[in-house]
Amino acid sequence: MKKGFFYSISVMLCFMLVAAGNVLAGNACIDCHKKMTPGQVKDWSVSKHAENDVTCDVCHGDAHKSAKDVSKVRLPDEHVCAECHEEQFNSFKKGKHQVGWTALNALPITHVEPDELMEGGRGCGGCHNMGIKTEAQKKAQHDHGWRYQNNSCDECHTRHSFSKTEAQNPQACQQCHMGYDHPQWEMWSSSKHGERYFAKQRGQLPKDAQAPTCQYCHLPDGTHNNHTAWGFLGVRLPIQDKEWAAAQATLLKALGVLNPETGKPTARLDAVKAVDMARLTQEAWQSERDKMLSRCANCHSKSYAKTQLEMGDEMIKKTTILLADAINIVAGLYKDGILKKRDKQAFAYPDFLYFLRTDYSAPGSDSYKNMDKNVSYIEQVLFQMYMKHRMRAYQAFFHVNPDYAYWYGWAQMTKDLGEIKELAAEMRASHKKI
Ligand code: HEC
Ligand code: HEC
Ligand code: HEC
Ligand code: HEC
Ligand code: HEC
Ligand code: HEC
Ligand code: HEC
Ligand code: HEC
Repeated sequence: MKKGFFYSISVMLCFMLVAAGNVLAGNACIDCHKKMTPGQVKDWSVSKHAENDVTCDVCHGDAHKSAKDVSKVRLPDEHVCAECHEEQFNSFKKGKHQVGWTALNALPITHVEPDELMEGGRGCGGCHNMGIKTEAQKKAQHDHGWRYQNNSCDECHTRHSFSKTEAQNPQACQQCHMGYDHPQWEMWSSSKHGERYFAKQRGQLPKDAQAPTCQYCHLPDGTHNNHTAWGFLGVRLPIQDKEWAAAQATLLKALGVLNPETGKPTARLDAVKAVDMARLTQEAWQSERDKMLSRCANCHSKSYAKTQLEMGDEMIKKTTILLADAINIVAGLYKDGILKKRDKQAFAYPDFLYFLRTDYSAPGSDSYKNMDKNVSYIEQVLFQMYMKHRMRAYQAFFHVNPDYAYWYGWAQMTKDLGEIKELAAEMRASHKKI
């Protein structure tokens, strides 16, 4: 009896010592960091993690103990979160966010821009820090001397509060889903859907009033897997309508996915497939569309919602045809030798994947000194027509925003086409004179 009692006591003591050891290690971090980085300790202390004793060392390891050994800190990637949140990790892995970093690095433009805007994790890299990085991708970042940006979970659940309600707010998406080529924030927040959400927040609509958020339509029921039917490029294979299919082929040539001379797929098609940039079958497209329609049908009649989405599809067709006209005009300038193929261009044809410029990078580099080889002005207008105005014209239909659909979208596209026609005529006239 007595023996058993001492045994239990010593087992209990052991447990207490181990537990105390953990807490002490955690406490040492907190004690010092209360002085070093008080804001972070405060954020952590109001989190569910603090409530559940998920202390600093659980995520960062305990190898670093003072100012002298900071480099020993582990900067946790998503696998660390997965130790306790496997469900969200596995779901995230299947989604489109998972390929954000890979898609960014698949573009030629990425390799001629200042590194700060890419590996550094600001600019393009600030929004595309999405997806579990491979060891090679991490190494590329670390080789630049940048060891942060290892985690995408904190893009919606910012550290160190790691909150669920923060991620449920549409503003959690705003930093990335805004601006030039994907102003979903601006479109949604000024649509009736957004207006009702804000009216609810202000208490001007009853709590149970319905107002769909980004998450309601795109991340329903706690899923971390996001996909849409059309995706960013607004391209789908196959397209039955002949005029549309021809215009889409022209766009695919300008994306360098089809060889402009032979019409055959290039190596870039593999990159597009690898990151799921376009739906490659009618079925893949339809299954996403059906899921979305059933979301709309929680509030609208199915036929109402279907009509709305089909208008969006029709706008993809019309904007693609308008754009193809413009691409053909610029391609004609190449054909007649008025525009000349530059060093890094694969074809004598416009290339949208070099964005607003081609072959110069940061000040100081050789290519910077060759800035005169920059993309011609007419190509910049063409790029803007594609990337800024076409995107807006059809995305606005899906996000129910009249002003983006017309004034910022379609109207600007027709203006671009007019400008391209005029510029081409001037270029041809002055070319004849020489
Ligand atoms: C005696 C003080 C002290 C203790 C104890 C301490 N740290 Fe630190 N920690 C620092 C200092 C100083 C820095 C560097 C701050 C800076 O760069 O401004 C730092 C930096 C960090 C960083 C950021 C690293 C980076 O590269 O930006 C993390 C994460 C961190 N500590 C976590 C911990 C954890 C986890 C523990 C406990 C296992 C811990 N710290 C214990 C003083 C301490
Ligand atoms: C649930 C996991 C988790 C816990 C617990 C945690 N951190 Fe972090 N911490 C992270 C992640 C994720 C990053 C970002 C890593 C990156 O960018 O590569 C980070 C980054 C940091 C940084 C460097 C970046 C910056 O913003 O300055 C510091 C300093 C830091 N943590 C301190 C702490 C301290 C102190 C505690 C305890 C009070 C703590 N962390 C607890 C996950 C955690
Ligand atoms: C050692 C286990 C552990 C690790 C590692 C961990 N968490 Fe947690 N996390 C928890 C626990 C426990 C809770 C509270 C669960 C609950 O309340 O149901 C939680 C809650 C959360 C929540 C919900 C908070 C809320 O407001 O309800 C989020 C978001 C979260 N964690 C994100 C992360 C991220 C991101 C990482 C990695 C950087 C991470 N966690 C690492 C254990 C962990
Ligand atoms: C403000 C945040 C932000 C910046 C800056 C940004 N992107 Fe994006 N990018 C996004 C978002 C969000 C999407 C998805 C948009 C959509 O589907 O409408 C996206 C989509 C893409 C896609 C298509 C991915 C796919 O699989 O469909 C590529 C490629 C891309 N971006 C490359 C770049 C490059 C290169 C840069 C810099 C020159 C850049 N992005 C700058 C946020 C950003
Ligand atoms: C694109 C934004 C986004 C990213 C990135 C993201 N989450 Fe979430 N997360 C959400 C949303 C939205 C919710 C709330 C879901 C709901 O309403 O049930 C959520 C909820 C959670 C919860 C709480 C689950 C619950 O019901 O208590 C955890 C835990 C979590 N996420 C972990 C993670 C982890 C781990 C990662 C990285 C692998 C991650 N999240 C990345 C948006 C995101
Ligand atoms: C840190 C930046 C960032 C945040 C925050 C972010 N996203 Fe994204 N999102 C991206 C990028 C980058 C892509 C394009 C990834 C790719 O396809 O390569 C993207 C793509 C998407 C897509 C496009 C899917 C497709 O089919 O092409 C949807 C839908 C989406 N995000 C929804 C959301 C929602 C909802 C939120 C907020 C809860 C959110 N995102 C928060 C960066 C972000
Ligand atoms: C009422 C539902 C709904 C809401 C709310 C909503 N979206 Fe969408 N979203 C759609 C539909 C429908 C599409 C087009 C789907 C398709 O391709 O058929 C779409 C497409 C997208 C795409 C792919 C490119 C595009 O724009 O066509 C992204 C990225 C996206 N939404 C992000 C967001 C973000 C971020 C928010 C919040 C600011 C948001 N969405 C709010 C329904 C919604
Ligand atoms: C959570 C409920 C909810 C969901 C889901 C939802 N809507 Fe709505 N929608 C509303 C409400 C409420 C209004 C405001 C109706 C009004 O203007 O009187 C609205 C307005 C609209 C309008 C503008 C109507 C007008 O009169 O100008 C369109 C178009 C629309 N929704 C399409 C969609 C589509 C397409 C989807 C799915 C992608 C969708 N909605 C999903 C609740 C919802």
